[in-house]
Amino acid sequence: MKNSLLKDDTDRVDGIDKVTGKAKYFAEYQLPGITYGVLVPSTITKGTITGIDSKAAERAPGVLAVVSHLNRPEVKGYEASNTKPVPNGTLKIFYTDKIAFNGQPVAMVVADTYERAVYAAALVKVSYNKEIHATDFDENISKAKPPRNPSSAFYVRGEAEAYKNSAVTIEQEYILPTETHNPMELHGMLAHWDTENRVTVYAKTQGVKATQNTISSTFMIPMENVQVNSEFVGGGFGMALRTWPVEIAVVMAAKKVKRPVKLVITRDQMFTLVGHRPHAWQKIGLGADQDGVLKGITHHAIGQTSSYEDFTENIVNMTKFMYKSPNVNTSYKILPLDVGTPIWMRGPGEATGAFALESAMDEMAHALKMDPIAFRLKNYAETDPEKNRPFSSKYVDEAYKLGADKLGWSKRKNEPRQNKEGQWLVGYGMSTGVFSAGRGKATVRGVWYADGRLLLQSASSDIGPGTGTGMVQVAHGVLGVPVNKITFELGDSSLPPAPSQGGSATMSTVGSAVHDACTALKNNLAELAANSGMSVTDPIAEILKKNNLPSIEVTKESSPGNDQSKYSMYSFSIHFVEVKVHELTGVVKVSKIVSVGDSGKIVSPKTARSQMVGGAVGGIGMALTEESVIDHRYGKFINNNFADYHVPVNADVPDIDVIFINKPDPYTNPMGAKGMGEIALIGFSAAVANAVFNATGKRIRTLPITPDKIL
Ligand code: MOS
Repeated sequence: MKNSLLKDDTDRVDGIDKVTGKAKYFAEYQLPGITYGVLVPSTITKGTITGIDSKAAERAPGVLAVVSHLNRPEVKGYEASNTKPVPNGTLKIFYTDKIAFNGQPVAMVVADTYERAVYAAALVKVSYNKEIHATDFDENISKAKPPRNPSSAFYVRGEAEAYKNSAVTIEQEYILPTETHNPMELHGMLAHWDTENRVTVYAKTQGVKATQNTISSTFMIPMENVQVNSEFVGGGFGMALRTWPVEIAVVMAAKKVKRPVKLVITRDQMFTLVGHRPHAWQKIGLGADQDGVLKGITHHAIGQTSSYEDFTENIVNMTKFMYKSPNVNTSYKILPLDVGTPIWMRGPGEATGAFALESAMDEMAHALKMDPIAFRLKNYAETDPEKNRPFSSKYVDEAYKLGADKLGWSKRKNEPRQNKEGQWLVGYGMSTGVFSAGRGKATVRGVWYADGRLLLQSASSDIGPGTGTGMVQVAHGVLGVPVNKITFELGDSSLPPAPSQGGSATMSTVGSAVHDACTALKNNLAELAANSGMSVTDPIAEILKKNNLPSIEVTKESSPGNDQSKYSMYSFSIHFVEVKVHELTGVVKVSKIVSVGDSGKIVSPKTARSQMVGGAVGGIGMALTEESVIDHRYGKFINNNFADYHVPVNADVPDIDVIFINKPDPYTNPMGAKGMGEIALIGFSAAVANAVFNATGKRIRTLPITPDKIL
């Protein structure tokens, strides 16, 4: 027990629950009469279902139903909405006989035990008319097209392609493979219709209100008739930012069998049913004069999407404002392929873009024979060159220095292959990351009891970063109530509304509402004290007693003000790494990491540090091992398991130093905080690639940096 009241030492409020297994994920809930769903996935990648023979499955012991497009219950939103399953709409599960990707669920078996459902699912025979599929990015790249919705990615400042006319030029292509989110907790849902018209679900979601909204609109029942519970989530990384078709299938199946249905997808289904970071091609052109002043930056990108839906992300965003080049142009297209729709994955867009831009910056520094930090400082943007306005705060110059000192950057030689330890070549690399410091609207209810306890409620989520802990610390900061007397309730759609947890905006958004609710409570208490001739410093118990009140209560909605249009608000990260590359085998080890966060005031130091550590670990995977491979003959992901899709393990991860600038941003929110979930990862892979170049003289422009590419 060291739940110290020192702000800087606050432990996670749910830490003990999480490590002892007391914290329940959706799959751990049991309801009376519960049944189990198991999916029958498509074995073809494109085509039409010609028949589903489910007779044997239906006769198997314990089976209640085999749900498919042939017999699904009424889903009012399917008929009402004019979005077709293809093109450009959510995949309507069990809606038609069309197959859009390999592994698309064609049926769900519901049985009284999981094992019986698994067995019966194996008895379902599906026949198809196969069509020729397209899953190979390179082969189909000529079919890339601008997204249907207007995109700010098409951007020109000054003259397009101006880099070509500079004294020193770089022009290179960078490839990111498909990556798959691999959170500990598998996806799925537990759903039960309490009445014909009212459903309760236990979900894995980054937004209980978003899940409530999707179920409400799909089944066309009022919002208040959909109860979504998601108190604990075992990691999200973006994959639970939408309500996936498979969840709709569970709600549908529960309607059909009139009993609770629980479905947990398998690890291999995580590769097909709940999104991925899309494969992306990028081309960067940089032009500079001999002194290292950038004259032109060009950044073109193509990202993969599905055949039925446009998924877009901000791959080229950072290029528009990170450096003060007079000429910048960017473009972004999407390439529809016969795979499931991608989804945001930690540092979405920017993590892909930063790999290319920050690798190219390193290449240019090398061409100029300049130190990569000196080159970046030469082109430092004091103000936002894209929007022509100040940054709300930016301490990147300071962050470069702090990180460089901590890593021992002075050991780095500008020429590669200069540092060696036995058979290992040693290299140093750095990179910059950035993500918008967004803030949305949220509502918090606060109840302050006479015994000093404080209850705070909001329909926010915690996919792992420690939302409750951060919110408790905000409240403690305003009211001085000891953190162990504060409870923050989240993950319940009946609580006051909050947006989904995504885009590193929860502290800014929900934290502001906590701040405002607590400020209101403080003012209310002061008023009560004054009215009864007491002082605010008197104990709350006495003030409330005098006023005959058991508690005081407020509900506060909090929205960003217009500073958002006056300032460019971004969080920045600088990642420094040391790598060791084995000369004979090409094995790369990341041997030192220093990540510096310029993310405003750090509200919750322990959880903030954990975010940066987790991002660096994810960054090692992105840089060195992660790649979801499709066998294009079948259109099927083939390394869809932890044996073949490599995420970093302890032995891959060195000690990680985390440094925060920790200066409050004057404009983002009352805490002066900026988000940090995304910047923890963004740029990291470029730092590794740059260090590998410094070690070996080999520039790897296609992730992941596997030994075969080095040798
Ligand atoms: Mo994050 S990719 O916004 O969960």
